[in-house]
Amino acid sequence: MLKPHVKAVQLKASFKHMEKTASIHIEDKVYTYPVITGTEGEHAIDVRRLRKDSGFITFDEGFANTGSCESAITFIDGEKGILRNRGYPIEELAKHSGFLEVAYLIIYGELPTREQSSEFRAKVTENTAIHTNMHALFDGFPSSSNPMAILSSMLNALGCYYPEMASNNREQDLEHFDNAAALLISKVRTLAAMAYRKEMGLPFVYPKHDLRYAANFLHMMFTEPYKPFEDHAGLTEAIDLFLLLHADHEQNCSTSTVRMVASSGANLFASVAAGVCALWGPLHGGANTQVIRMLEAIHRDGDDGSRFIESAKAGKSRLMGFGHRVYKNYDPRAKIIGETVEKVLSKLGVDDPLLDIARHLEQAALNDPYFVERKLYPNVDFYSGMILRAAGIPVEMFTVLFAIGRLPGWIANWHEIATSGNTKIHRPRQIYTGPNERHFVPIEERG
Ligand code: ACO
Repeated sequence: MLKPHVKAVQLKASFKHMEKTASIHIEDKVYTYPVITGTEGEHAIDVRRLRKDSGFITFDEGFANTGSCESAITFIDGEKGILRNRGYPIEELAKHSGFLEVAYLIIYGELPTREQSSEFRAKVTENTAIHTNMHALFDGFPSSSNPMAILSSMLNALGCYYPEMASNNREQDLEHFDNAAALLISKVRTLAAMAYRKEMGLPFVYPKHDLRYAANFLHMMFTEPYKPFEDHAGLTEAIDLFLLLHADHEQNCSTSTVRMVASSGANLFASVAAGVCALWGPLHGGANTQVIRMLEAIHRDGDDGSRFIESAKAGKSRLMGFGHRVYKNYDPRAKIIGETVEKVLSKLGVDDPLLDIARHLEQAALNDPYFVERKLYPNVDFYSGMILRAAGIPVEMFTVLFAIGRLPGWIANWHEIATSGNTKIHRPRQIYTGPNERHFVPIEERG
C-alpha cells in the first residue's frame, strides 16, 4: 500500500451573511431570506428554506442562475473575463508556473514549497505505470472505440486495482486521498496514451521516469520502435501550457457532474470517470474537436469563413469555440492560447490554413452585431485544437487532452465536497408536466 505523503490542506472560506435580505411575495404571504456574499462580492439569495416555508421551488433549467455550492477553488468574473485559480490570475500561472505545480495549487490550495513540489512530482512519477492486467481490458475494446469512452471506463476500472482508495467509505477514501490524487494525475496520462496506441494498432510504450509530465505523455504517444520521440519545437512546453490552462474552471458541466456523483458518497475514481463522460459532449470539452472539424469543413468548401458566419447567424450552424455560459467577454485562456499558437506554428515552420480561417472568423464575429449583442467571444476551445494539431495529436484525442488537464480541478472539487461536512446528496426537484393519474388498461383494450 502507498503511504500518504502530503496532507490535503482544508481551506474553508465560508460565505458571509449580509444585512440585506430578499423577500418573495407569493399570494398574500411574504417570505424573507438572507442575502449571502462570497469573497469576491458576488451575491446570492439563500433560498434553502423556501420549499419548507412555502411549498414552492425555484425553476432554473440549465442552472444559469443557481449557485450549487460554496467553493474556494476557482473564481471567474465572466463579465470582465477574469479567471483565478486559488486567487492567482491565470495569466500569472501561465507565465510563471507549470501544469504539475498548478495541479498541486488547485488540489492543496497553496503553491508548493520546493520540498512539497519534489515530493508531489516524485509521487506522480512513481505512479506512471499501469497494472499489466489492465492491458486485457484495452483488448476488449473495438479499434473504432472513441478514446473518451475508453478513458472513462479505464478510470473507473483503475479504482478496482486500488480498493483501499475507492471504497465508497468516505473516511477511508479521504485517508488515502493524497495517494489517489497523485496516482490519478499520473495514470490518466498513461491511460490516454494507451487509448491512442490501441486505436492506432500500435504497441503500448512504457513510461520513462526521467521525463517530466508532458514530455512523458508525448513519449508514450509517439515513440516508435527504435525511434524515441524528440521535441524540436517546444511542443512539450505548449502541451504543458494547454494542460495548465484547463486545470480548473469552476462549476462547469463536468465539474458539477463530479460533485453530483461525489455527493452520493461515491469514490474519487468513479466521480472523475463520470466527469470524463460529461466533458465528452460537443457543447463542453468536445467543442475542441468540433472546432477543428468546422475549420476543416470551411477550408474544404473554399470559404474564408464569411459564408460560415452567415449560416451561424441564420441558426443553420454553430460557431464552435465561441460563446460561454459564464464569459460574456474574451475567455482569458483563449487569449493566451491564441498567442501561443502563433509561436508554436512559427517554430515548427508550419503555415496552417486553418489558422487563417480561425483568425478571419474571430475578426468577423467580433465585428458582427449578432455576436456582439449576444456577447459571444472565443472560448478556450477556439484555438486550443490548433496547438494539439501542431503537436501531431489526432482530433479524436483532443477532448482526452482536455480531460487530463481538468483532472486536478475534478479532484479538488471531489475533495471539497468530501470534506465540507455537508452530507446532503445533490437531488434537484422538477416541475412535472406528464399525465395526471390514470388507470392501467389491459392490452386487449388499448389502441
Ligand atoms: N454560434 C452561434 N450562435 C450562438 C453560439 C455560437 N457558438 N453560442 C450561442 N449562440 C446564440 C444562441 O443561438 C442564442 O441566440 P438567441 O438568443 O437568438 O436564441 C444566444 O447566443 C445565447 O446562447 P445559449 O445557447 O442560450 O447560451 P448558453 O449559455 O446556453 O450556451 C454554449 C453556452 C453552450 C457554450 C454556447 O455558446 C455554444 O454552444 N457554443 C459553441 C460550443 C462551444 O464552444 N462550447 C465550449 C464551451 S467552453 C467549454 O466547455 C470548455
